[in-house]
Amino acid sequence: MVLKLKITPAIYLVGFMGCGKSSVGRALAEELGWSFIDLDEDIETCAGAPIAHIFDTEGEANFRALETEALKKRVQIARSGQPQVISLGGGAFTMEQNIELVLNHGVTVWLDAPFDVIERRIAQETHRPLARDPVRMKTLFDQRSGAYARADYRIETGEDGPAAIVSRILALPLFTP
Ligand code: S3P
Repeated sequence: MVLKLKITPAIYLVGFMGCGKSSVGRALAEELGWSFIDLDEDIETCAGAPIAHIFDTEGEANFRALETEALKKRVQIARSGQPQVISLGGGAFTMEQNIELVLNHGVTVWLDAPFDVIERRIAQETHRPLARDPVRMKTLFDQRSGAYARADYRIETGEDGPAAIVSRILALPLFTP
């Protein structure tokens, strides 16, 4: 295992909404025998409300503060030695404080899916406040790629499903002695 993971056994999946972070994260954690954490679920549990409700009643800035707090807690748990695969919400790895935190505590993997694939997946869902306006979503997609590119590794997912993506993550030079 690489030194970064030995010190803090955390793999963070980052990327745009709908790129497959949660389904890949769950399958990857299963394969590794690690815990799987969906950071959005942590936030919802802590706030006692769905993400869309937090956005609508408290605004995005307050959501981002909750997100950073939830991330810090997860990093602490990983630093204590509990191995975790953590899927970050699409905006989490765009904020400097969060980016530095995760880059310094574990390994980050960007699931880079093409916009048309994301659009198709997201069109069937309604729970994402920032996906309500397709034009804004494309703008965000373009704006965020520079931040996502700071991840340690990038997997171009195309239309691949979770199992194929997990195989590619497991083939990264992370687990060799
Ligand atoms: C967001 C992505 C969502 C969620 C929130 C904001 C974003 O997570 O954190 O709706 O800013 O892109 P997913 O990427 O898991 O959909």
